Amino acid sequence: ADWRTCLAVARALLVLDDDDRPLVPRYEKVLLGGGLPRTASAPKHVLVLGAGPAGMVAAALLKRAGHRVTVVEANGNRAGGRIKTFRTGGHENAAQPFADPKQYAEAGAMRIPGSHPLVIGLIDRLGIERRPFRYVDTDPEGRPRYRTWIRVNGIRARRADYAKDPRAINRSFGVPPRYEDVPAADIVRRALDPVRDEYSVARPDGTRADKPMPELLEGWARVVQRFGDWSMYRFLTEYAGLDERTIDLIGTLENMTSRLPLSFMHSFISQALISPGTAFYELDGGTAVLADALLDQVRDDVRFDRRVTRVETREEGERVVVDTVSEGRGGPVVRERFTGDAAIVTIPFSGLRHVQISPPLSYDKRRAITEAHYDSATKVLLEFSRRWWEFGEDDWRRELDAMEPGLYDRYRKGQVPPDGRLLGEHPSVPRGYLSEDQRTHYAANAWVSRDEPEAAGVIGGGSVTDNANRFMFNPSHPVPGSDGGVVLASYSWADDARRWDAYDDEARYALALRGMQEVYGRRLEVFFTGVGRTQSWQRDPYAYGEAAVLLPGQHTEILLDMRTQEGPLHFAGCHTSVKPAWIEGALESAVRAALEVHGTG
Ligand code: FAD
Ligand code: ARG
Repeated sequence: ADWRTCLAVARALLVLDDDDRPLVPRYEKVLLGGGLPRTASAPKHVLVLGAGPAGMVAAALLKRAGHRVTVVEANGNRAGGRIKTFRTGGHENAAQPFADPKQYAEAGAMRIPGSHPLVIGLIDRLGIERRPFRYVDTDPEGRPRYRTWIRVNGIRARRADYAKDPRAINRSFGVPPRYEDVPAADIVRRALDPVRDEYSVARPDGTRADKPMPELLEGWARVVQRFGDWSMYRFLTEYAGLDERTIDLIGTLENMTSRLPLSFMHSFISQALISPGTAFYELDGGTAVLADALLDQVRDDVRFDRRVTRVETREEGERVVVDTVSEGRGGPVVRERFTGDAAIVTIPFSGLRHVQISPPLSYDKRRAITEAHYDSATKVLLEFSRRWWEFGEDDWRRELDAMEPGLYDRYRKGQVPPDGRLLGEHPSVPRGYLSEDQRTHYAANAWVSRDEPEAAGVIGGGSVTDNANRFMFNPSHPVPGSDGGVVLASYSWADDARRWDAYDDEARYALALRGMQEVYGRRLEVFFTGVGRTQSWQRDPYAYGEAAVLLPGQHTEILLDMRTQEGPLHFAGCHTSVKPAWIEGALESAVRAALEVHGTG
């Protein structure tokens, strides 16, 4: 791509205006301080399409500035979009998602980086409690321990042991001798560091400091120019000179495999953020608490159960006409038409593809809607009556032998037949959630092995495996009043996620439980309540995908077109930022679009 485009992409990435000044401090003033500028802009009636975080924040800002807003939301009974917490009374068809009514777990957004100022600032300003999300497992005092498991190629090691001595696992991938003793994370870092050197400098402690402007901007623009149309796979082979075995190693351990054919830019940026060096937070009560607070500001202005099917723009009068249809749950399907002076479209482009827009949008915008690549993401959550991952061997012995004397030793020796008989049999498991059919199903899938690992003994954090589960996360904090917990048994992206999407929800739980047993041992089955929840974002009729994780070349080809205004239509949503799949990106876009509509953008 030409240098001007690369500079423009770098500006978007760094959130700078056309004069290279940072926009985030200005957005913070609007979002966290005084709201939109008090200019004499005439009040407008603004239609906001979609009640995710982008739509709700844009609507609240415009409302506060004196405009009239109507938020048109397809979902019949829930705001928040890809912020979705499975919680009692919290969302569609789920009066109580888990056996324990106090339990909850995230279908979508679960961790908020401390380095994302708009969302952190908003959470704090709204008075919402946040606490650490333990990306790395810790001891009770919160110190990182790295005791969770890596289980690949039939070998199991604690992360801390792997970091000290990676040889057995690295050899199991067949890496060349020069990489046998280098942990996967270090191989990735060494491969990516020359790219980071373009815009930042390494400090003696290994962290990096951005170069000052304008080197920062130009450095990023060079990265976009050089690698913007490369996939991560091409980068690792051609530029970093890695062989396929080493790419398998780092791909498996560092969650890169399924995204290797996608844009280098996306994985390069994510790799730095989703790492042990980032302080993440979570919200007490679930991420949906943030959606609740945003909805409170615009509740009377949201029209739920109104799926936008058609958007028409006009030269004069009320310039936007939006047709909608309801889902007709428990009643007739109804159509309703909304009109306004302007609209903010936050519908993900994957779904906007099916919305008729007339007269047609510009060629560039249509192309962006048609081509923007959306990734898949799938989560499978399993409920347990005890937080067994926090157990030491003494705890296991006490709990198992209380069920049947000698049971602890029989599990350790691999003498318990995988017949499903002990599934959910611990006295702490509430009865009535496991049917005989389920037991049979679980027995057919149960992990068969004589290899019972020692107790995990971790708080929070997560394990990685090359089985279909791929990435597992333990809850960072107990739910008050509950001895149990919901584990994210599988969190996967792209092809890894699509492997699950072929299976019905119910069929996934037996498979996910087996995947956990392979990593943590057979015996955890006694605490399974029989209840799981799962979310395939690719199949979700409100999100139509995980997020706009772009293909090689799309940062320069379509990204900048995704956000441009078209007459009375403004575009927001995390896909219009360079932070897809992050609430921060949705908020940046919301403030930008609100400023555009208000007329001082
Ligand atoms: P959405 O939240 O998708 O909102 C769009 C809204 O539009 C929805 O309410 C939808 O129902 C509505 N809509 C769709 N079609 C129509 C239509 N035709 N008519 C009317 N309304 C319609 N972010 C983080 O910060 N941290 C995380 O840990 C994190 N993890 C994630 C994990 C997963 C699996 C996923 C999927 C996302 C994750 N995110 C995370 C990203 C975060 O959830 C999104 O960035 C954010 O929700 C995007 O907000 P939005 O308003 O742009 O879009
Ligand atoms: N924000 C999401 C998370 O915390 C996903 C980010 C990247 N997504 C992706 N498919 N690469 O997990």
